[in-house]
Amino acid sequence: MANSLSGMVGDYLFEQRIRSDRVSLETLAARVAPLMAESDAVALHDQLLAAGGELGGRILLLDQNGKVQLDSYGELYGNRLQYPEVTNILVKGQNVDYGVHELDTGASLDTSNLLFMRRSNGAWVGYCTAGIVHASDIIGVLLLVSPVQEMMQNLYQLQDQMMLIFVVIAVLALLCSLVFSQVITNPIGGLMRGIQRMSKGDFSARVRVRGSGEMKHLAQAFNSMSEKLETLDQSRNQFVSNASHELKTPLATMKIMIESLIYQPDMDKELRTEFMGDINSEIDRLSAIVSDLLTLVQMDSQNVKLTRENLSIAQMVKENAHRLQPIADQKGQEIILTLSDPCDIYADKSKLNQVIYNLMENAVKYTQANGQVKVTLQRIGRDAKLTVTDNGPGIPKENLPHIFDRFYRVDKARSREKGGTGLGLSIVHQLVLLHGGEIYVESEEGKGASFIVELPLHQG
Ligand SMILES: Nc1ncnc2c1ncn2[C@@H]1O[C@H](COP(=O)(O)OP(=O)(O)OP(=O)(O)O)[C@@H](O)[C@H]1O
Ligand SMILES: [Mg+2]
Repeated sequence: MANSLSGMVGDYLFEQRIRSDRVSLETLAARVAPLMAESDAVALHDQLLAAGGELGGRILLLDQNGKVQLDSYGELYGNRLQYPEVTNILVKGQNVDYGVHELDTGASLDTSNLLFMRRSNGAWVGYCTAGIVHASDIIGVLLLVSPVQEMMQNLYQLQDQMMLIFVVIAVLALLCSLVFSQVITNPIGGLMRGIQRMSKGDFSARVRVRGSGEMKHLAQAFNSMSEKLETLDQSRNQFVSNASHELKTPLATMKIMIESLIYQPDMDKELRTEFMGDINSEIDRLSAIVSDLLTLVQMDSQNVKLTRENLSIAQMVKENAHRLQPIADQKGQEIILTLSDPCDIYADKSKLNQVIYNLMENAVKYTQANGQVKVTLQRIGRDAKLTVTDNGPGIPKENLPHIFDRFYRVDKARSREKGGTGLGLSIVHQLVLLHGGEIYVESEEGKGASFIVELPLHQG
């Protein structure tokens, strides 16, 4: 661009000069044409010498063969000049032509490559030629040689300025591309590295959030995605390790008991029966854990189908109270039902039953002897609100946020003693969500706990 721009400016500089030279030379050619045709050498000589002085240059008259017939400097008589400006007139039939040459070398000036033109200290001259036409024939050529040193100086200056502009633009372009690479390419590169790390299983990969606009949103989206994946990965690992631990404990207990049976064949019959009973209950425990795990995995795979039917929640609460009554009686506990509405619902019977049973079973299980378990059912707008409250030990504040986590138990040793695996509430939670409802807990340590389930009675 800088080159073609300087070419244009260069051309413009010369054009002024060419125009004036060309007009004067054409006028002169027209004037000398009849003199040349008549071979009036004296008049011709006078005319040309006078014109040379007027135009401030050297005038040469050439014949049809390009031979010098007259030179206002009187030096080149008889020489044949092969300048392109001359041949363009004699051979190609142009009327006028112009070119700039270095005097010593004859090299011509090329304005199309001005920026990178080689400089010389030599003198530069302009050759302006015009054909001398007589009776439609070119009978000779007039050549005006004029000094253009001043113009060349201007041109050199122009070259310097253009070169400077060129360098400045090149540096700016470089800077721009650097900035662009910082702003666009680098963040994309960072994101790519993050994605590669993540594809290798490293979910701790995060990218720096910089700048504004789309790139910033992309980086934020990536970070929140990797954060979620990391949490998911951690909870999956936690789940697997908890599950293995839960399965290992009954297996270890059973192994010890079975080994005792094997290595003590003369064991007391009563003790043997007790061991067998213990092994049997460990097997029950194992199969309960496995079936809970299966329920959870099935719900995770998100293809659980709800087999809905018309049910009354009040009726289901009554049935579960009936089931739990013997245990409550054993502990001297009271189960109080306040069912103000039947709360008819279209839901999955066995799953809803699991929700009610687990909550009521927990209340009975964790409340001390002679305690109280209250179950209330109300209809609030389009929702059923089921509350299971006990006056047991309650749940400490710091444990509340984790109460619905898998395998989470407040008092690990005690609740295992009671046969719990810590899966009950997480299953309840999932089942309530599946029915489009909500579950939350309100409790204070030492003051009992309330589990509240809100279920929409009409779907859709
Ligand atoms: N009503 C309650 N009062 C006090 N603590 C409770 C109550 N309900 C649940 N918890 C605490 O929450 C933990 C988690 O309960 P969850 O029902 O998930 O497991 P679990 O009863 O131990 O085992 P599972 O129900 O699988 O047999 C329990 O271990 C217990 O510590
Ligand atoms: Mg439970």
